[in-house]
Amino acid sequence: MSNHALPFTCRQSFLDDVIDGLSRSQKTLPCKYLYDDFGAQLFEQITALQEYYLTRTELALLAQYAQDIVAHLPTQATVIEPGCGSGQKVAYLLDNMPDVNGFIPLEISTEMLLYTQQRLRQRFAHVNIHPLHGDFTHGPTIKALVQQHGLNGSNNVVFFPGSTLGNFSPIHAIEVLHNLRTLCGHNGRVLIGIDLIKATPRLLAAYDDREGVTAAFNRNLLTRIARELGAHLCLEHFRHEARFNSEQHRVEMHLVANQDTCISVRDQRFTLRAGESIHTENSHKYTLASFSSLIGNAGLTLVDSWCDSQGDFALCLVKPQR
Ligand SMILES: C[S@@+](CC[C@H](N)C(=O)[O-])C[C@H]1O[C@@H](n2cnc3c(N)ncnc32)[C@H](O)[C@@H]1O
Repeated sequence: MSNHALPFTCRQSFLDDVIDGLSRSQKTLPCKYLYDDFGAQLFEQITALQEYYLTRTELALLAQYAQDIVAHLPTQATVIEPGCGSGQKVAYLLDNMPDVNGFIPLEISTEMLLYTQQRLRQRFAHVNIHPLHGDFTHGPTIKALVQQHGLNGSNNVVFFPGSTLGNFSPIHAIEVLHNLRTLCGHNGRVLIGIDLIKATPRLLAAYDDREGVTAAFNRNLLTRIARELGAHLCLEHFRHEARFNSEQHRVEMHLVANQDTCISVRDQRFTLRAGESIHTENSHKYTLASFSSLIGNAGLTLVDSWCDSQGDFALCLVKPQR
């Protein structure tokens, strides 16, 4: 399924979300729309950038501790990765889970899902891989997936790396954590990668690289809105900006208008003054204490965690509270 063949319901919610976001006083767009097929490819390029320490640090943690982590997981588990991307990281777990029951990558980008499925099937011929296209933020979708695919076993392992949780404000992160809890079952486990609070210049550089890949990733959202919703806008009127919000402990991505401009979507016209922005993504940064408190609000509790020596990134194993 290409983006040009989006089902009506998906296109309608995209349109509704764009109109709702651009109608607000601080204009916003949900970050999940950054990941059309081209956006997902750009994100893969970001993960290899020198400034983007997150991926290589998390990969090093997995290389070092995968065996130890797997020792804490239920046996014969089904591993589920919501927002699997290229599936590069889950390979470290699967390598150490000889009795794994199966792997379910769940992705919003169909191209990424296809690529990951093909790649992992070659490497893990013995593992039953069952790709699912869907949105992990949508509670009813998650509940339906659990029913339809018989996931209501009690020993699922949900893998949620990449600091993807950080993309959500606390209230929405709790909703996502509830979905992860639904996926993992009563006796299951959730392994979450989180980015830890650190000096602001390093944080900002990770979201505003010298090569401009992150800028292209952010601006691609406008291209997508123009292409898929037939919106009229001038891409050259917008620049990428990364900002640190010290109150919320997060890096924000914005599309800032270089000059007075407007975006027309269907019969609606949204004006932006020069300097006004559209807020497109949050990346929250945590301490282990703030993370523990967040997951507690979703009925989850920390079992163990693995962190690099610089204290940049942590892998946190969590389970449902009794
Ligand atoms: C930050 S990347 C993480 C990829 C991978 N898990 C990793 O850590 O390398 C986010 C991935 O989640 C997917 N994604 C984003 N929002 C999603 C959503 N709401 N539902 C399903 N997949 C989503 C994107 O297409 C992208 O591949």
